[in-house]
Amino acid sequence: QPIRLADYHPPSHLVEAVELTFRLAPRGTRVRSKIRFRANPAGLENGNLRLDGENLRLVSCALDGTPLTALDYLLTPEGLTVPAERLPGPSFTWEAEVEIDPADNTALEGLYTSGGMFCTQCEAEGFRKITFYPDRPDVMAPFTVRIESDLPILLSNGNPAASGPGWAEWHDPWPKPAYLFALVAGDLVAHSDRFTTMSGRDVALNIWVRPGDEDKCAYAMDALKRSMRWDEEVYGREYDLDVFNIVAVDDFNMGAMENKGLNIFNSKYVLASPETATDRDYDFIESIVAHEYFHNWTGNRITCRDWFQLCLKEGLTVFRDQQFSADTRSAPVQRIEDVLQLRARQFREDAGPLAHNVRPDSYVEINNFYTATVYEKGAELIGMLRRIVGAQEYRAALDEYFRRHDGQACTIEDWLAVFEDVTGRDLSQFKRWYTQAGTPRVSAEWQVAEGRLHLRLAQELPPTPGQPLKEPVVIPVAMGLLSPEGAELLPETTVILDGPELTLDFDLDEMARRACIARPDHVIPSLLRGFSAPVILDAGLSRADRLVLLAHDPDPFNRWEAGRSLMRETLMEMLTGGAPDPALFDALDRLLAEDRLDAAFRALCLALPSEDDMAQAAHDAGLVPDPTAIHATRRAMQVAMARALQPRLAALYDAMDPGPAYSPDADQAAKRALRNSALTLLARIEGPARAKAHYAAATNMTDEIAGFTTLLETGDPDIARRFHDRWKDDRLVMDKWFMAQVAHAAPEQAVAIARALTDHPLFDWTNPNRFRSVIGGLTSGNPAGFHDPSGAGYRFLADWLIRLDAKNPQTAARMSTAFETWRRYDADRQALITGALDRIAAQDGLSRDLSEMVERIRAA
Ligand code: ARG
Ligand code: ZN
Repeated sequence: QPIRLADYHPPSHLVEAVELTFRLAPRGTRVRSKIRFRANPAGLENGNLRLDGENLRLVSCALDGTPLTALDYLLTPEGLTVPAERLPGPSFTWEAEVEIDPADNTALEGLYTSGGMFCTQCEAEGFRKITFYPDRPDVMAPFTVRIESDLPILLSNGNPAASGPGWAEWHDPWPKPAYLFALVAGDLVAHSDRFTTMSGRDVALNIWVRPGDEDKCAYAMDALKRSMRWDEEVYGREYDLDVFNIVAVDDFNMGAMENKGLNIFNSKYVLASPETATDRDYDFIESIVAHEYFHNWTGNRITCRDWFQLCLKEGLTVFRDQQFSADTRSAPVQRIEDVLQLRARQFREDAGPLAHNVRPDSYVEINNFYTATVYEKGAELIGMLRRIVGAQEYRAALDEYFRRHDGQACTIEDWLAVFEDVTGRDLSQFKRWYTQAGTPRVSAEWQVAEGRLHLRLAQELPPTPGQPLKEPVVIPVAMGLLSPEGAELLPETTVILDGPELTLDFDLDEMARRACIARPDHVIPSLLRGFSAPVILDAGLSRADRLVLLAHDPDPFNRWEAGRSLMRETLMEMLTGGAPDPALFDALDRLLAEDRLDAAFRALCLALPSEDDMAQAAHDAGLVPDPTAIHATRRAMQVAMARALQPRLAALYDAMDPGPAYSPDADQAAKRALRNSALTLLARIEGPARAKAHYAAATNMTDEIAGFTTLLETGDPDIARRFHDRWKDDRLVMDKWFMAQVAHAAPEQAVAIARALTDHPLFDWTNPNRFRSVIGGLTSGNPAGFHDPSGAGYRFLADWLIRLDAKNPQTAARMSTAFETWRRYDADRQALITGALDRIAAQDGLSRDLSEMVERIRAA
């Protein structure tokens, strides 16, 4: 049943052109297709015509105008095959009419309805639920689409060709795979603008939303225009159609989708107003708009040969959107946030039963591989490559990639070959990053003796499911050296660790002379600056060394990292009965007082490792994490920090008020982030008065939600009702209301609160955002509640996964990853979790999506 990369065969037929006609009706949409095929000279297969098709009612079909009967083809629940001997010749036209039921399509894959509109999601394999087609990314074709419907706005890919009352035609001249097909029909209004490309092409830009939401599109539009300009300036990539449309949809399984010329977005990542969206929401909107736009070149013009190559487009496009955000906002803050995300999601995945290669070798359901590993670790690999070859050669390689592969469906081998050809390097060892799972561990040891520093770096690759033994990878380690006073002894340099170990030797006299200081008797290595590789580093630094880095490292990432590591260590010591070291609080106090430091950076330095980080840290230290104790310890640490930093926090609370005129820009957002961090910490020792005033005075959602969540924790009995009454008609804000109540509940009440919220009249569990708010609010937002020793959290999740799986397998499978860490925990919890997993596995008719996940999580 698994599909293997090693079994790839080129398609037997290629498509020269596709014409589709949709007669839309919620319960019975008719799709007529006319597809011009020709035999693929490179096709190794038997020459049969193989078309994918699922949940389609075949009305009629014909080859070169001759109708086929049931004897002419083989029809299964997965598709239709016309044997080679029934085909008219090497080139022919296939025509078919099918009927589909968009209103019944609760999986939200293929053509479905959402709030009275029609929309599509085809990646990865949804097009086969629309019509019979070779639904694989290495079959690319130009599409012409006719839509017939009474709905006022009818959209598809490419450029508008013609329209009249009740119909519209679209033509997309750029050959594309079926997964990039899109269609939207509805009663929509546009927020419109224009963009002139670098060669002078005038592009009409539209963001389509439901009437009433048109005043919430300005930020997404601004982000779109900035993304278009940035891709021209930084990558030389220009847009290639007359129109670019974005549509916001309420029911959507993921963030957004890069369909050619017609991006479809989860409304959460489009709609924003200061009153309803937080700074974080604005940040996401900016980066997701950029991400989908950047796919036009990295994904659409150059696509993937097969789904094993998913990281070819996703890793590169995430890297590009991260670069864009770094250029647009503060680069160090962006890097820290990207690394936080990588560690929270990808390191966690890599450490458990779901670990897989950035380029997987096999899958059962490809939707289960849209993972942090493919996306975020995939982006890290691009970043390492860029660091190794340098910015100029990276740009030269990208130019060559676009030149050589435009219009093609490519592989990781194609990608690396471009870099090898352009830079003259051998990247065969680098390629191991794509074919080995797991997070490498790097350790450093050093001594200072006779005026020299001896530094030894070593790498180790722990086994992962199915990969007991691994080969060393190429690890770029950006580094510097500091004196105990914090003077920089060595300007930043990058060394490459590509064997099991590497030893380096530095002359201290020479370095001291260049730095104009006396020869130090101690040196502090600042390793892996900017997080130059996705590894777990044991830097071997004493507490005193890390305090020096926290105060003086010229690399902001490592400054933050030093503080992070001190906090993690302190929390671990407190977990086993220790008390925090006042030196850490003194260091934080000084850092908070550095006014020339970015406020967002200071807020990040103040944030504690999450409960999940601590559970992993406990596990790594050979302990069995106790989620309840971890939660209590983190609380105790917040109280201790608030006590130690109180005057500073109170001063920052006043100083960081950006005033009433809201702007989502990085500068204001940074102030609010620091101010709201001060608020939450102070509430741990001051009680609710400040939060009450903050909530009452809030004029934007960032401040309002900060006040709201603080009041939920300090026990204001009426706050949830007041927030509800104010926002009950706004879906996106109500998602926050649902989530916050679960995430900020006391652990012993969290499951009961989550359960009560699933009975709320506004809890629509078929809406993925709402489902994630409550169920994800527990599993990710309240780990101590989810891991309640009674097992109630596990039963609650299992019940909901079983229920959702029957309607929406993709979202159910995605949420099942809450169980992926089960081996960390004690025997009782392990038994409760495996019991829950076994109960899911035993369900009749479980989807391929969820059954694959449960099996992988349970095994290994
Ligand atoms: N390509 C989309 C993006 O990264 C995401 C599509 C996710 N598809 C899926 N089946 N999970 O922007
Ligand atoms: Zn993407």
